[in-house]
Amino acid sequence: MSLYRNTVWFLNGIHYYTRKGYEAAAKDFESQHLNVSVVGRSFMITGANSGIGKATAMAIAKRGGTVHMVCRNRDRAEEAREDIIYESGNTEVYAHIVDMSETRKVKEFAEDFKMQYSSLNVLINNAGCMVHKRELSADGLEKNFATNTMGVYVLTQALIPLLQKSRDPRVITVSSGGMLVQKLRVDDLQSDKGHFDGVMVYAQNKRQQVVLTQQWAKANPLIHFSVMHPGWVDTPAVATSMPQFHQMMGDRLRSVEQGADTVVWLALCRVSARSRSGQFFQDRCPVPAHLPLAWTHSSPEDVQRFMSQLETLAKAILSQPEEEHNSPMSATRPQFV
Ligand SMILES: NC(=O)c1ccc[n+]([C@@H]2O[C@H](COP(=O)([O-])OP(=O)(O)OC[C@H]3O[C@@H](n4cnc5c(N)ncnc54)[C@H](OP(=O)(O)O)[C@@H]3O)[C@@H](O)[C@H]2O)c1
Repeated sequence: MSLYRNTVWFLNGIHYYTRKGYEAAAKDFESQHLNVSVVGRSFMITGANSGIGKATAMAIAKRGGTVHMVCRNRDRAEEAREDIIYESGNTEVYAHIVDMSETRKVKEFAEDFKMQYSSLNVLINNAGCMVHKRELSADGLEKNFATNTMGVYVLTQALIPLLQKSRDPRVITVSSGGMLVQKLRVDDLQSDKGHFDGVMVYAQNKRQQVVLTQQWAKANPLIHFSVMHPGWVDTPAVATSMPQFHQMMGDRLRSVEQGADTVVWLALCRVSARSRSGQFFQDRCPVPAHLPLAWTHSSPEDVQRFMSQLETLAKAILSQPEEEHNSPMSATRPQFV
């Protein structure tokens, strides 16, 4: 089944996820959809210093939106911020330094942000990583899971009250078509059992983002949630995490603007928020979140178990006393196996 899933996914990818796939899909795009001004609306974008996140931040800044970049490295964040201000002429661009793999820091940031700002219209969960060796985050979580799933979960949960108070609120999560090869697994969130395969752990996290989006949409009807696949895009993440794939695909990879197009459309366009909340998008269209005959649907019980495990893990990390958390030798630091 796994070979079947991988083969169908790759053939799908060659057809739809490449630059040619984008160009074919773009023939049906309505050009006036992105002809909008978003002056007065605010957008938070994680991983906004590079690739799809930076292209998204640029597109929003060019249309007058206030941009909150959430980045882990101050120098890279400032450099990107200067580029965005210079090219867009919009000075309402702010950089916040947060490592999305550090659950406690993410929560602290979100709480501070809520104290400082009275509204947030759109949250774009874009930051992501594919780490090939099993490493633990500062909070004791497996690094891919900490960044791609727990960081997204804690940031979004904490910002939901602020989004709910804001006009036309939206949450967009940048997942990946790679998630199509994975069924939600609930018995090993820390990837501690058996052989560690970073590509599959990443794909599992991206499936988790799709499940999270569906659950958030059900629980929060005032907010429009969507999750999307950008296609195969020429970015530093692909060049460094998948060098062979990057080399093999070469010019067939999409540009960052092409990869960002659906994120920007979901964030800015009036029409996009009229679609049903909680869907998976590719090239401005909702598409199935499962390959045909791939047996990747999960039971309501598994989804429930996944959501409760996230909540329990987050609570365990966030309730640890500061001094214990900061001690590298702490015997009480949770080991999430
Ligand atoms: N490119 C593709 O073909 C493709 C396909 C499917 C999905 N995606 C998804 O698209 C999203 C953006 O990736 P990209 O392709 O545009 O790659 P990219 O240019 O390398 O951007 C990734 C961004 O995420 C940031 N990031 C990573 N770990 C972080 C952490 N712990 N805390 C804060 N920021 C962190 C990176 O920061 P640094 O610059 O500091 O590393 C960078 O800004 C990711 O979620 C990725 O999974 C990409």
